[in-house]
Amino acid sequence: MTRLSGKSALITGAARGIGLAFAQAYAAEGARVAIADINLGAAEAAAAGIGEAAIPVRMDVSDQSSIEAAVAEVEARTGGIDILVNNAALFTAAPVAEITRADYDRIFAVNVAGTLFTMQAVARGMIARGRGGKIINMASQAGRRGESLVAVYCASKAAVISLTQSAGLNLIAHGINVNAIAPGVVDGEHWDGVDAFFAKYEGKAPGQKKREVGEAVPFGRMGKASDLTGMAIFLASAEADYIVAQTYNVDGGNWMS
Ligand SMILES: NC(=O)c1ccc[n+]([C@@H]2O[C@H](COP(=O)([O-])OP(=O)(O)OC[C@H]3O[C@@H](n4cnc5c(N)ncnc54)[C@H](O)[C@@H]3O)[C@@H](O)[C@H]2O)c1
Repeated sequence: MTRLSGKSALITGAARGIGLAFAQAYAAEGARVAIADINLGAAEAAAAGIGEAAIPVRMDVSDQSSIEAAVAEVEARTGGIDILVNNAALFTAAPVAEITRADYDRIFAVNVAGTLFTMQAVARGMIARGRGGKIINMASQAGRRGESLVAVYCASKAAVISLTQSAGLNLIAHGINVNAIAPGVVDGEHWDGVDAFFAKYEGKAPGQKKREVGEAVPFGRMGKASDLTGMAIFLASAEADYIVAQTYNVDGGNWMS
């Protein structure tokens, strides 16, 4: 398929998990894809697996100079970024009484400031080139409502939904569509970490929380990264030109709004 033929995409946090699945899907649709990740070695390995359509780039979305350097490098190598996926994020969990300022700052620097200032850096180029673009932010069902042990991460993903709305309204004047995807529970290394937090705070056996959340999904299982690629391709394509500032749940029926 070639729905993204001739387009260039930058995906943050694309060395593994959902971002890597999106990079593979975009390349299969004909796009050049920058695999931007704080872990350059993993980004290089991921890019090698995709082939010459993929460009590995070191990028720390919590560092303004790293954002600007990575965006400039990808623009120079591709002739301009048409599609941005703000996918890099960190998870944390703790009872409210145990949340630390340092953990809050670390999570918000990546999940919220990283999303906003990567969006800004890429949008500036899109505006200057005058050919529009697509920006997709990775939200979460965690951004739809709070969870007892997950205050900081939930708040960061609620902020991503809000940024998507404001940026979507602001940037559509330049032909830039900003939308978001809210996954539910997606199996992979991220959820191995989530499972470990619940083992610690709820006394669950390793793997128990994962089993429980999977069984609770109306579809009947946890999501896979490949369950999200259809929405990611659609929102990056011309078929989504009239879609502005929305957040789409792709979660097997977990959430409705
Ligand atoms: N997995 C899930 O169940 C789930 C559910 C809802 C939403 N999400 C969201 O989907 C997105 C991808 O999730 P995932 O499960 O693939 O996560 P993951 O932890 O497997 O991958 C995250 C990637 O981001 C990179 N990264 C971390 N900090 C970075 C930084 N400062 N700069 C650049 N890269 C950085 C990591 O190296 C890693 O490659 C995230 O935004 C996550 O919050 C995931």
